[in-house]
Amino acid sequence: MSLKAQIDLTKIPKHIAIIMDGNGRWAKGKGKFRIFGHQNGVNSVREVCESAAELGVKCLTLYAFSTENWSRPAKEVKALMQLLVKTINHEMPTLQKNKIRLYTVGQLERLPTDCSSALLEACEATKQNDQMDLVLALSYSSKWDIVNAVKKICERVTLGEIKPFEVDEMTINNQLSTAQWPHPELLIRTSGEHRVSNFLLWEIAYSEFFFTETLWPDFTREHLYEALVDYQKRERRFGKTSDQLVEDKV
Ligand code: FPP
Repeated sequence: MSLKAQIDLTKIPKHIAIIMDGNGRWAKGKGKFRIFGHQNGVNSVREVCESAAELGVKCLTLYAFSTENWSRPAKEVKALMQLLVKTINHEMPTLQKNKIRLYTVGQLERLPTDCSSALLEACEATKQNDQMDLVLALSYSSKWDIVNAVKKICERVTLGEIKPFEVDEMTINNQLSTAQWPHPELLIRTSGEHRVSNFLLWEIAYSEFFFTETLWPDFTREHLYEALVDYQKRERRFGKTSDQLVEDKV
């Protein structure tokens, strides 16, 4: 049976998050510059977006550029930003055809103006789409997001809108830049690295992790299917016992 046929369409995660890693190594392995890997990584982005939307995933969050990525060589950062603008403009028909709504999280104001403008325009142009939300994490880090959330809560406390003892998980959750989406049930990281690299630290508290050796530019819809088949075999207990889960179903 094909991998796709093994997927239970009634148990598709609502939200999948992906750490796209290995572009540089992929290019190096072919004797090319790192940007060649990023350019080819765009094909994987397109394929994964289309297949996730087709399967009924409601939100796909991609870690496209971390806060820490600013310390890469200026030449690579510049090339990545240019690639981002080109991709956004070029892939607009793909987003519209698949009814994908684009969002960004992160410090958009740190991106070059042509880049942030292209992104904002694309978010606006796709806001009527309702098949899947595509969230690009750009100049994003989870610790940055959590620090911001804490600052906003402190301001509310100072204004007397909330008392310190009233702060709970929802208070924090609601101040994160990702507040409007459910937490990812599945986190995928490519390229054989087993780290979360400052990505959605709060939101992945109960996510299932899928690590693959595949480098991002080689990641196809078949790899996504593989991750979903694997995910659907897992028992998500959220701290309960297996027996309790059976009882809950009755
Ligand atoms: C990680 O690989 C990849 C990135 C930091 C950038 C991801 C960008 C793309 C896939 C292209 C454009 C994206 C969008 C959303 C249009 P790496 O460079 O860290 O690889 P390495 O670990 O092998 O060095």
